[in-house]
Amino acid sequence: MKLIIINGPNLNLLGKREPEVYGTETFDNYYSQLKETFPNIDLDYYQTNIEGELIDKLQQVGFSYDGIILNAAAYTHTSIGIGDAVKAITTPVIEVHISNTFSRETFRHQSYVSPNAKGIIIGFGLKSYELAISSFL
Ligand code: DQA
Repeated sequence: MKLIIINGPNLNLLGKREPEVYGTETFDNYYSQLKETFPNIDLDYYQTNIEGELIDKLQQVGFSYDGIILNAAAYTHTSIGIGDAVKAITTPVIEVHISNTFSRETFRHQSYVSPNAKGIIIGFGLKSYELAISSFL
């Protein structure tokens, strides 16, 4: 089982970015824990702040991996290009968000990823990623 977590803009700042919303743990630390929790899963991780690089990565892995866990962060709410990429690829995509986007500003209620995602996991903190991985087991 080959999965990849793809994180979008500003998620490299987890741990110091708005800790009241996103918590105090760094993603690198959480990712190490995830690898220990799922020793039988071949788990990759990619983060970029650049929209086109997210699309490039989706295209690169989207015909060979077994699953993609995508937190496109702010681009979720704005990027038709990322939505189109999710639609174009054959690997199932689980959309995740750390915070409950529906309890926040209305501009966060729109997602260009959701219509073509296999499923959506929102609002469980970093645990959202773990739940998404479990959905492939
Ligand atoms: C986020 C929610 C988005 O609205 C926001 O722009 C992010 C993070 C989340 O994981 O809660 O950067 O995707």
